[in-house]
Amino acid sequence: MDIEEFFNHNKQIKHNALSKTIPDEFLLWENSPEVCRSFFNWIRQDSDTGSLKLDITSDISEVVAELSRAEFLAIPHRTDNSQGWRSIVLHGLCSIMTEAPYNYVNLGIVDNTAKETWTDASKFFPKTVAWIKENIPFKQFSRIRVMVLDPGGYIMPHQDIQRSFLGGGLNVAFTNPPGTEFAVEDNGLIPWEPGDIRMINIGKLHSVRNLGNQPRIHMLVYPPLMEEWTLESMQLVCRSYIKMKGNEND
Ligand SMILES: [Fe+2]
Repeated sequence: MDIEEFFNHNKQIKHNALSKTIPDEFLLWENSPEVCRSFFNWIRQDSDTGSLKLDITSDISEVVAELSRAEFLAIPHRTDNSQGWRSIVLHGLCSIMTEAPYNYVNLGIVDNTAKETWTDASKFFPKTVAWIKENIPFKQFSRIRVMVLDPGGYIMPHQDIQRSFLGGGLNVAFTNPPGTEFAVEDNGLIPWEPGDIRMINIGKLHSVRNLGNQPRIHMLVYPPLMEEWTLESMQLVCRSYIKMKGNEND
């Protein structure tokens, strides 16, 4: 897939143009945890949404300052299909293991009892860690990574899984400088604003590039398991979807 072609195609499309109307069976989701869970699962698996902005607002100014002065510490990540993409692991196996744990288990570097914890690097980012604990709606974490995309950098169009799915984790924009673009297959460009926390459809082809002259600083946060989505955080997702769809079902 040619990256230029991918962006040119998606630039013609309104973001989330294909995301579905809420089926009637979910309209009373607030009355029942079971219906809320079904609605949540439908949003993730069946709604064909490119990205969903969560209804969370926070002050990111101190985090942006903390990350901006230390982003040079980030190390290269997944250089086989990207350029200028770098990472600092704040929570995971250790600060230099930027990939999912099974990769290191498969290589025989760690065994599968290895635990993910706050890394040595995390202690240099106290404002960021405090922000995560206050604003990210997970009780526990697997990997949390600061992701830097340098000027001129890009991530080639790819799918992380083979079916439509709003990803296991959350993507947070701390900066999104002019010239940075994130396209999702047939879903246009994501209208990122600094401070946005989004679920991304990682089952559709997606690609990021930085045509500007400042580094783009985002963060990826994953819960350990699907089960770690509490009722409260599933409710947040349902509420956020309704907000996105406006009053279509009224
Ligand atoms: Fe991805």
